[in-house]
Amino acid sequence: MDFFHSFIGSFAKLFLKYLRSCVAELVSCVGWNTAEELYSCSDDHQIVKWNLLTSETSQIVKLPDDIYPIDLHWFPKSLGIKKQTQAESFVLTSSDGKFHLISKLGRVEKSVEAHCGAVLAGRWNYEGTALVTVGEDGQIKIWSKTGMLRSTLAQQGTPVYSVAWGPDSEKVLYTAGKQLIIKPLQPNAKVLQWKAHDGIILKVDWNSVNDLILSAGEDCKYKVWDSYGRPLYSSQPHEHPITSVAWAPDGELFAVGSFHTLRLCDKTGWSYALEKPNTGSIFNITWSIDGTQIAGACGNGHVVFAHVVEQRWEWKDFQVTLTKRRTMQVRNVLNDAVDLLEFRDRVIKASLNYAHLVVSTSLQCYVFSTKNWNTPLIFDLKEGTVSLILQAERHFLLVDGGGIYLYSYDGRFLSSPKFPGMRTDILNAQTVSLSNDTIAIKDKADEKIIFLFEASTGKPLGDGKLLSHKNEILEIALDQKGLTNDRKIAFIDKNRDLCITSVKRFGKEEQIIKLGTMVHTLAWSDTCNILCGLQDTRFTVWYYPNTVYVDRDILPKTLYERDASEFSKNPHIVSFVGNQVTIRRADGSLIHISISPYPAILHEYVSSSKWEDAVRLCRFVKEQTMWACLAAMAVANRDMTTAEIAYAAIGEIDKVQYINSIKNLPSKESKMAHILMFSGNIQEAEMVLLQAGLVYQAIQININLYNWERYVSLSEQGCSAYMHLKLLCYKAGMLTFPGELVREKRSCLVWTLKYK
Ligand SMILES: *[C@@H]1O[C@H](CO)[C@@H](O)[C@H](O)[C@H]1NC(C)=O
Ligand SMILES: *[C@@H]1O[C@H](CO)[C@@H](O)[C@H](O)[C@H]1NC(C)=O
Repeated sequence: MDFFHSFIGSFAKLFLKYLRSCVAELVSCVGWNTAEELYSCSDDHQIVKWNLLTSETSQIVKLPDDIYPIDLHWFPKSLGIKKQTQAESFVLTSSDGKFHLISKLGRVEKSVEAHCGAVLAGRWNYEGTALVTVGEDGQIKIWSKTGMLRSTLAQQGTPVYSVAWGPDSEKVLYTAGKQLIIKPLQPNAKVLQWKAHDGIILKVDWNSVNDLILSAGEDCKYKVWDSYGRPLYSSQPHEHPITSVAWAPDGELFAVGSFHTLRLCDKTGWSYALEKPNTGSIFNITWSIDGTQIAGACGNGHVVFAHVVEQRWEWKDFQVTLTKRRTMQVRNVLNDAVDLLEFRDRVIKASLNYAHLVVSTSLQCYVFSTKNWNTPLIFDLKEGTVSLILQAERHFLLVDGGGIYLYSYDGRFLSSPKFPGMRTDILNAQTVSLSNDTIAIKDKADEKIIFLFEASTGKPLGDGKLLSHKNEILEIALDQKGLTNDRKIAFIDKNRDLCITSVKRFGKEEQIIKLGTMVHTLAWSDTCNILCGLQDTRFTVWYYPNTVYVDRDILPKTLYERDASEFSKNPHIVSFVGNQVTIRRADGSLIHISISPYPAILHEYVSSSKWEDAVRLCRFVKEQTMWACLAAMAVANRDMTTAEIAYAAIGEIDKVQYINSIKNLPSKESKMAHILMFSGNIQEAEMVLLQAGLVYQAIQININLYNWERYVSLSEQGCSAYMHLKLLCYKAGMLTFPGELVREKRSCLVWTLKYK
């Protein structure tokens, strides 16, 4: 899971509970119509509706005797139409080679001859603009909304048992024996195919939020893949074939069905809960839209219902557990005090952070303060199903199918940022980030882009100038402390590079600077701008990431690193609260790492300009990392006296000398200019000098730039530095370009050139 995080819920345990089951003949398929209403079809040709609120079961229709249902999929709720909580129709595929479009009242609107032999699955795409069907005849066909054949996407020698749409509805994933195939709809686009199992693959699913793929096979294993076909998880072989797998809508959990077996797993593959119901094989599983319950179609004619409980959230001394569907228990681990929180409706999402618990039920939002569990603030939700809650110290965000809404902790609606083509159904905690002043959202249409908004107004930052990166971005996180003007965003890109940049993108484009490589998960501390991440086999803490802006050379000295190979594959940072980092290993166990408390104290001193206290603290702690952080902090704040002390303490003698040489400079302006240069602000430095009429000194600065340019001789920036220098020379009245000057070296200045 990822950054800042108690909010997604640190699950400790999670159980499946059986609400009910009922006997019919073999139940072949199930589908949720609303959060509380399920349709099932069985071999006795009946379509039955189950209402979980009223516990009523009713027959919708009895189909003709020759229709043996195989698969059922509800047409997606019309996007953008608020308050439409019900789907109106579904597609039913059957063993006679047809699919049927059926209204929710059970009227067969249309039956279409689709395949030779049984139609094994049919799925609407996310927009409801296309239907894919697959059959025993090995064909994959695409149909229009009204059931007109658009194309035969593929044709192969073996039956296709399962099919799923890609998140963008532009690709289709299907089974071919032991192979999985991803085929784009676009003709001639590249097809991805890989051997996924040692037996026939029976079921696949593809989640639109996390972009991960599930597969299940006769080799008795289930597996998790990324969308490039790279394996992320493979289960041990079970006793029986795995007959069903299904992602929860938010992509945090998935369910697995087999003979007398129902399992609930984390997206990384490990198992939260295992139940052994007496059901025969569970052939099909579907999650309710709000992700709180599942239903399974069972070989012995049962429909099994289960819901997710024992979800747990932790923050500081508080543990909140969802004990029943409408009840939470809050435990203060310090004094063992227990409070029970009762809700009118079913709890759908919750988040605990910054001394507040935010809970969404199917109709309302509750805000509790950790100081008072008795009187929550309650307000009605715009739309039913909240899919994500994110918190910052000042306010929190709710995301549902219709939009993104920012609220204050006293329940005031603040803003609702939007951008063209925004799809909120696929947002998660890796793709949205919130701080006191900023909302950042990674786009899906162009994954290289991050949209930035002013939190209080929801207006785009910097006149809508986007943050765009050269690679696709996987995960984003805003820092939480410090001034709005210094707000930084860290992100991990497709190459697993960790980058940082400023969110203020006015004027000169802020550079995107690489902080580290092979980073898989990251988190900012909630108390100061310290960043941590898991890097390949190391756990790394960037005590002062800003160092890359002021003195990149000493960045390595500001880090804390420790071996993390014991965390095994794919660990995730769950939270970073105070000095405590919580990491979840691939097997689901939680590990707590305490990092040194001193860097946070140093941040605190520096943010209130207590330089003497800061120096005293470093003398006391006697660690190079502390001095290196202090050096960078001092330069960033232009406190050269402290910088000199700190650089001396880490043996950076040339920098000490340079700072000394600045002190001896004759004019105020050139002092200022050199301090600016020292912290990498070469353009500002030049500006100061030019304004003071010190053109020759400005040239000198650029000569050093040119020195740098020789290292990177052909780079674009190098060339423009060269042209720029030429211009300045003309301005100073030098009509020929002074080649000698270029060769002249002032080594003490060379290293100050921070351009990259
Ligand atoms: C649902 O289960 C039936 C077995 O009863 C199976 O034939 C069918 O393919 C399953 N549906 C899907 C979508 O896999
Ligand atoms: C964030 O907001 C809270 C509440 O308004 C405030 O107490 C805190 O100082 C803010 N933090 C920052 C870094 O602005």
